Amino acid sequence: MPSLAEAYRPYFPIGAAVDGRTIVTQEELLLSQVNSLVAENDMKWERIHPRAGDGGASYDFADADRIVEFARQHGMKVRGHTLIWHRQTPAWVFQGSGAVEVSRQELLERLRRHIEALLRRYQGKVYCWDVVNEALAEDGSWRADSPWQRIAGGDGDGDGIPDFIAAAFRTARAADPAAKLFYNDYNIESGRKQEGAFALAEALSRQGLIDGVGIQGHWSVAGPDGETVRRAVRRFASLGLTVQVTELDVSVFPGGDRSSPAQPPPGGMDLQAERYRDLFRVFREEADGGRLSGVTFWGIADDHTWLDDFPVKGRKDWPLLFDAAHRPKKAFQAVVSW
Ligand code: G3I
Repeated sequence: MPSLAEAYRPYFPIGAAVDGRTIVTQEELLLSQVNSLVAENDMKWERIHPRAGDGGASYDFADADRIVEFARQHGMKVRGHTLIWHRQTPAWVFQGSGAVEVSRQELLERLRRHIEALLRRYQGKVYCWDVVNEALAEDGSWRADSPWQRIAGGDGDGDGIPDFIAAAFRTARAADPAAKLFYNDYNIESGRKQEGAFALAEALSRQGLIDGVGIQGHWSVAGPDGETVRRAVRRFASLGLTVQVTELDVSVFPGGDRSSPAQPPPGGMDLQAERYRDLFRVFREEADGGRLSGVTFWGIADDHTWLDDFPVKGRKDWPLLFDAAHRPKKAFQAVVSW
């Protein structure tokens, strides 16, 4: 069986999202197929910094460390995901003393201490960070359902960047000047949300605070097509930034399909293979042009995918290049033969 990592070595690292369990259950596949890892959940605030405070007892680095060590042993890169997000952040982060919400100033302090702790611990081991994840709403405005935005989303200095986002990038830049700093989001390959992401990336890049944009890539057999993704890559790259596809999977269910078949829909695997073929051709071409610098799958094989619980809880999906028994699918062949 060919190796994705080898086939794509001239273009970009191939990554996969993992956790402490899948680096064991999927070890063989990971070792042969990828040369970059990202923690699917284990570097998120609720896992790595579950308890209030900043002492050693507030953090739980065990699972993240295990992934970083696995990567080191096998010569793989590590992407850091994610420092600031409105989800998977424990309630204490937004609580002040008593029943009141934390103040803006204290929240920014907590953000600063959290980012410094992570970047220093993983300096030289994690080469890039999703500093802020999913700060935008579908219409390109700032997400109203984010406590970060509500408490510290003002723009005190009028630079067009919500304070918590600017503080996060500034802190990360100072804590590890060598780390590549990314803004990461979904549905930014087109539409109003792309406008928002572009404006944010532009404002951050004016201050030299950002290196790249992560297009998540939770896509489906229905799209988007490669040309749409190419236009997005080129637009962000026009700011002098690099682009990565950070969470790639291609659901066999078009958006809106809520059926729950026991087997993939007829023709679904062929459509999926064509979608992947189209995307990877564009990825290679954009890498050749110096605009795309990484592609990370959100998992590696169909036995472990978040899509089994989204958008329909408990519905099996088959979005990756390897089946549940870790055998290569048509989509794998489509991606390694060109
Ligand atoms: O750890 C608990 C476990 O103790 C508990 O028994 C179990 C009961 O449901 O839940 C476990 O936590 C789950 C966690 O994944 C670990 O599997 C959460 O419920 C579940 O919500 C969580 O889902 C993760 C999701 O982010 C949450 O926001 C997915 O695994 C993860 O793939 C997904 O990743 C996100 C990216 O970070 C950002 N972009 C979108 C992407 C997909 O949603």
